[in-house]
Amino acid sequence: MDVESDLKTFLTVEKEKVEESLDSFSSWIQKRLPSRYSGPVCYSVMGEGKRLRPILCVLGYRATGGSLNSDMYDLASSIEVIHTYSLMHDDLPCMDDADLRRGRTTPHRVFGHEDVVKAAVLLIPSASLWALKALENFVLTDSIKRKIIKELNGASGAGGMVGGQYLDLLAESENLTPEDMQALHQKKTGALLRASLTIGALAANAEQDQLESLEAFGHWLGLAFQIKDDLLDATASTEDLGKQPSDRIHSKSTYVSLYGIERASQIALEMKDRALESICSAGLDDARFIKLADYVLERTK
Ligand code: IPE
Ligand code: IPE
Ligand code: MG
Ligand code: MG
Ligand code: MG
Repeated sequence: MDVESDLKTFLTVEKEKVEESLDSFSSWIQKRLPSRYSGPVCYSVMGEGKRLRPILCVLGYRATGGSLNSDMYDLASSIEVIHTYSLMHDDLPCMDDADLRRGRTTPHRVFGHEDVVKAAVLLIPSASLWALKALENFVLTDSIKRKIIKELNGASGAGGMVGGQYLDLLAESENLTPEDMQALHQKKTGALLRASLTIGALAANAEQDQLESLEAFGHWLGLAFQIKDDLLDATASTEDLGKQPSDRIHSKSTYVSLYGIERASQIALEMKDRALESICSAGLDDARFIKLADYVLERTK
């Protein structure tokens, strides 16, 4: 099988497995939350997402010798749960004020603002509990299990996604320096992408050099991923994206606003190259990493 069709099959198969786990998560959460909160949670979790973060987690795990089972998909899907919470809040009127997400009406427009704010917050401890439940079945030291939960929470909180979202709002209509721009992107989006690979490698009990090189891969790919998101916001249609372009309306500080489309595209490519250099240096140059990195920049949604 050629690498192209191999990657397509890989993405389709992995997405299905992740969604099976998210289905189980939805049933699990329905038993634990009142329906006013589990309704928006299940609606959001089961939306038509790419599932890139859990797929990266599984790829990192496999590349460093982990053998797959449903517990690994549950661990990986805990990252998608955090990502879903970030999208629920990102779309609120006090943030990016979006009506459309993953081709559907945003949850706060369906279920109401108040319930969605709380339902999304309830996903934070739920993601950790879901990950811990999966980890019970892994043969790993407690120290590694602690590191995994720390990664998940560290990448989600003030030092990661939430901190980046805060900077993103502060940066509206501002002229950021390139350094501040990179720091914002790294926290807002890069941290969770990087953590996906770190968690995959930790779960496989990877060697330190492999762990570091996957972390570096995730770091650069995460930055390239957000630049591509910003490029799509500037160039693609609502229909193609399943969400409404809005960075200009909100005067967002992005690589596109700072450098223009052409230079921002080049920077994304340079970052992708740095990502690939990182994995090659640890002998992890599985063709799927290369194709997945290409996919991040060639995707149309
Ligand atoms: C969108 O992420 C939010 C960003 C961090 C740019 P994705 O592009 O991964 O969204 P889904 O999960 O596929 O909908
Ligand atoms: C979102 O960035 C980053 C998150 C942490 C959710 P954007 O605001 O650009 O994401 P989209 O374009 O709405 O998906
Ligand atoms: Mg945003
Ligand atoms: Mg947004
Ligand atoms: Mg965007």
